[in-house]
Amino acid sequence: DVPELDKRYENSFDIGAAVEPSQLEGKDAAMLKHHYNSIVAENAMKPINIQPEEGRFNFEEADKIVKFAKENNMELRFHTLIWHSQVPDWFFLDKDGNKMIDEKDPKQREKNKKLLLKRVETHVKTVVKRYKNDVASWDVVNETIDDNPQNSRGLRESPWYQITGTDYIKVAFETANRHAGKNAKLYINDYNTEVEPKRTHLYNLIKDLLAQGVPIDGVGHQAHIQIGWPSIQETRDSINMFAGLGLDNQITELDVSLYGWPPRPAFKTYEEIPDEVFKAQADRYNELFELYEELDDKISSVTFWGITDNHTWLDDRAREYNDGVGKDAPFVFGPDYKVKPAFWAIID
Ligand code: XIL
Repeated sequence: DVPELDKRYENSFDIGAAVEPSQLEGKDAAMLKHHYNSIVAENAMKPINIQPEEGRFNFEEADKIVKFAKENNMELRFHTLIWHSQVPDWFFLDKDGNKMIDEKDPKQREKNKKLLLKRVETHVKTVVKRYKNDVASWDVVNETIDDNPQNSRGLRESPWYQITGTDYIKVAFETANRHAGKNAKLYINDYNTEVEPKRTHLYNLIKDLLAQGVPIDGVGHQAHIQIGWPSIQETRDSINMFAGLGLDNQITELDVSLYGWPPRPAFKTYEEIPDEVFKAQADRYNELFELYEELDDKISSVTFWGITDNHTWLDDRAREYNDGVGKDAPFVFGPDYKVKPAFWAIID
């Protein structure tokens, strides 16, 4: 019996959450129906789950999420068509099973490039055709920019890039555009988009692609952020920069970690986290949503990367850096499904 989060922003932007198919019933489903009007798959729509072997598509888990979105009248974001992580190895093996990135012969490299681009086209086309009437926003490519760029204009030197240059991005967007529904929007998604030099590298890449006629509609800002980082001014500048290219912005994977990077030391349990920390997190959410409202003509949706502090990928990271024991609490609902100070900071 608390106000619905999505109603607070009815006239501004969608409020979304990332979900696993297992969360589509019980308490999590009730939360989704009450507070959100948009969902995205946390893992079910990644290439490793959708096309684990070449030509063998598996839509079972993804379909459950699509069905839930439809039944509950929610917008659906698709995450993600192309990414360097959670992608099966077969994409990057040639017909003889050799790693394409190791190929030295220029002629064979050219053939490999063609083959990989064909695979990009097939994957994107098959998935987009299936869900074209269901998906409002597509993450077409994810994490194309490097964090500590030494060369290559800051482009991430993933196998996609090593084998095709930036052509994989072009082909992915062009194919998605050819098959997506009329009103669907196509996004390039990344993290740390607020900070330099990454945001400028992303900006330059997009500017180049737009100049070549690549159909990009918007930037997805993952926003895996912290209580004290990045600054609101950097965040504002970033949204304005991309809006200046005529693009939409979406906040796609919002979570506010209690920790810096790496997340060490970490609280061992949720109960150990002091009230002051939740208060600081609430202040952070408050300034963040004030910014989103200020820029609401440039932001069409804000999606949290989970629902309650029960289930967050940040716990894996807290554990990884703290000998297997650690708890993060990035959301506005606690593990008991109750509202946290951060919730009221947003609603008020
Ligand atoms: C994460 C999921 O939350 C985890 O369950 C999974 O083990 C790894 O991937 N950036 C992204 C997301 O674009 O797909 C990632 O999701 C988090 C970082």
